[in-house]
Amino acid sequence: MAEDKREFPKDFLWGGAVAAHQLEGGYQDGGKGLSIADLFTLGDKDHPRTITKKIEADQYYPNHKAIDFYHRYPEDIKLFAEMGFKCFRTSIAWSRIFPNGDEAEPNEEGLKFYDDLFDECLKYDIQPVVTLSHFEIPLHLVQEYGGWRDRKLIKFFVHFADVCFKRYHNKVKYWMTFNEINNQTDFEAAGHLYTDSGIVPEEGEDNEKLMYQAAHYELVASAQAVKLGHQLDPDLQIGSMIAMCPIYPLTSKPEDILFAQRAMQTRYWFSDVHANGFYPQWLLNFFEKKNFKLDITTADLAQLKEGTVDYIGFSYYMSFTVKYTGHEDYNEAHDLVPNPYVKASEWGWQIDPTGLRYALNWFTDRYHLPLFVVENGLGAVDQLTEDHKVHDDYRIKYMHDHILQMKRAVLDDGVDLMGYTPWGCIDLVSAGTGEMSKRYGFIYVDEDDHGNGSLDRYRKDSFYWFKNVIETNGAEL
Ligand code: BG6
Repeated sequence: MAEDKREFPKDFLWGGAVAAHQLEGGYQDGGKGLSIADLFTLGDKDHPRTITKKIEADQYYPNHKAIDFYHRYPEDIKLFAEMGFKCFRTSIAWSRIFPNGDEAEPNEEGLKFYDDLFDECLKYDIQPVVTLSHFEIPLHLVQEYGGWRDRKLIKFFVHFADVCFKRYHNKVKYWMTFNEINNQTDFEAAGHLYTDSGIVPEEGEDNEKLMYQAAHYELVASAQAVKLGHQLDPDLQIGSMIAMCPIYPLTSKPEDILFAQRAMQTRYWFSDVHANGFYPQWLLNFFEKKNFKLDITTADLAQLKEGTVDYIGFSYYMSFTVKYTGHEDYNEAHDLVPNPYVKASEWGWQIDPTGLRYALNWFTDRYHLPLFVVENGLGAVDQLTEDHKVHDDYRIKYMHDHILQMKRAVLDDGVDLMGYTPWGCIDLVSAGTGEMSKRYGFIYVDEDDHGNGSLDRYRKDSFYWFKNVIETNGAEL
């Protein structure tokens, strides 16, 4: 097939994405408090990370140093500028601004750090795109309140959001409230509950109910933040951030189709609430059926309506497949089956570029809102050669195939896509495993899984490739 030489719309936001706890390091610098991410140990694809109760001397915590972006960001932003980035997605570590999370006054040193970071981006005309809560909350909120199981967290989060909007609204136009808010659907993995919501389920507690309660509080907090942000500055664009893994039926058997539909409803009701401002009826029926008496007030429901999002930001790495096995309700821990048409990465993630075009169309049909692909990429082991090169043609192929599908969605299907920020544009600590060796970057960071290495940065082959993609606005992939 002839190469598709069409360009993306002008003003398309090409860039890259990271999250504070996965690259900043400096975990106690500038008055920062501990966050739950500071208690994650190192794992690997066969051994999940654990979360210790306090910092243990004999454990390694990869996020403490990460890639030391806290001290080296000018060098890194300069490299992003060299690639031609139009935007840079990062998150604000809540515990840099409010070390405990429940203070009335913010920590000025923490605020100043992000002022300087955003200024450094703007110096190169790189627009910051900011996630307020990316898989970390101040540890104190976990220990004192039990995380998002407590309604008070709404107040603390909205205060944090308000302080950030007021301080940075002249520097940051694009915001997202909670990273991958729907990744809690896998409620049997207690680690996820802990990560997103800071909840440690107690013996005998119903994880599923806990997840729905925490998610409700988060959605109300998000809606309140969106409303506040718009009141302060109507130019702010505040979006949701959804982990999009389309769920296909294994066969065309009507039961499989219906089950896949329910699975999609179960994974994506979060964006329904963000975008539509109300709960879908099937979910309210489900709460009844399960006899979940959730704390959802009339005032909450009104607030959800008043704080709907401006766009849907989403990550896309893989698709899922399900098969109906006789039960109605989708359970992510048990109902996924391998897709015989799709190959998986070394970490078992099913690589499916076509699924990205499907997802873009699916979101568009459902919400009629602008979309933003704020994460996508291939986690792979890279080899640094003696002359400091990385020949990562596998990563280039992955990105080429995904960008091509994105191009078709935009130019053929008419999807309104704001931009594309591939994940981990510089190598960083994996959220899932804590490894450095699961690398996503265009820039190689000399550091191993245990924190050894010079931390020097090197341009990979994909660096030059992506630079050209941006330079030609996607005409040359
Ligand atoms: C997304 C998260 O789920 O996937 C990122 O928003 C994460 O924080 C990314 O790093 C890739 O996952 P992993 O486990 O390979 O780091």
